[in-house]
Amino acid sequence: MTAIPTIDLIDALATEYNDKSPREIMQLALQQQGEVAISFSGAEDVVLIDIAAQLGVPFRVFSLDTGRLHPETYQFLEKVRQHYNINIEICFPNAQAVQDLVQEKGLFSFFNDGHQQCCGIRKVQPLRQKLATLDGWITGQRKDQSPGTRQNIPVIELDLAMSGENKNLIKYNPLANWTSREVWDYIRLMEIPYNALHEKGFISIGCEPCTRPVLPNQHEREGRWWWEEATHKECGLHAGNLQSSK
Ligand code: ADX
Ligand code: SF4
Repeated sequence: MTAIPTIDLIDALATEYNDKSPREIMQLALQQQGEVAISFSGAEDVVLIDIAAQLGVPFRVFSLDTGRLHPETYQFLEKVRQHYNINIEICFPNAQAVQDLVQEKGLFSFFNDGHQQCCGIRKVQPLRQKLATLDGWITGQRKDQSPGTRQNIPVIELDLAMSGENKNLIKYNPLANWTSREVWDYIRLMEIPYNALHEKGFISIGCEPCTRPVLPNQHEREGRWWWEEATHKECGLHAGNLQSSK
């Protein structure tokens, strides 16, 4: 792949790889020139780490610690680190920005005026900082995670929302076409570790105050930011999704 990939090249690759397996998409991602890393949330996207580990080539993993994750998620991050014998690059938010927000609005401002500001400080800013050092990132996004915003995500895309000047950032979504069932079949078949919250009714997992278990037949996304309108359940990490779902 050229140093600065073009939209045409990425679109062609997305078409070529649409029917390929997560393993093949991961292989392509890890062969990319420059720095590439898996973005791991501490949920069922552990499958990405397992697939990369199976390939037997070096890979990087980072995780955004918002400071508001469940204890089970912190324990899981550590478990994964030890299980795969990998370094997880933990990204923290800007301390002053968090302090200013909490000082001004308290610890639960998102219940009053929406999650965008807190997510912006605790997740999106640290992600931007990390992505500024990378040429590609690999996410666990899937189409079936959010009918409102993710039904069109390609397996490979140019992440224009996160690209900087003179750099086109590539985003790989190797699990885009997998269903939740396929992910869980993989986890069980390969007997890989999973977050203990999944045994307590949680499907989609984010920050502790903003995630809750769902009832039978409720969509997994309904457990996230449940007090807000369904169509806006993106925190800004995947800003492009809101554009493409309009
Ligand atoms: S979110 O945008 O609503 O929070 P979601 O929980 O569905 O995202 O996860 C989709 C993918 O986004 C994950 O598989 C992962 O690649 C990335 N992601 C989400 N949260 C984090 C996090 N805290 N740290 C690193 N990556 C994350
Ligand atoms: Fe803040 Fe909730 Fe967003 Fe976490 S999910 S960063 S606690 S608003």
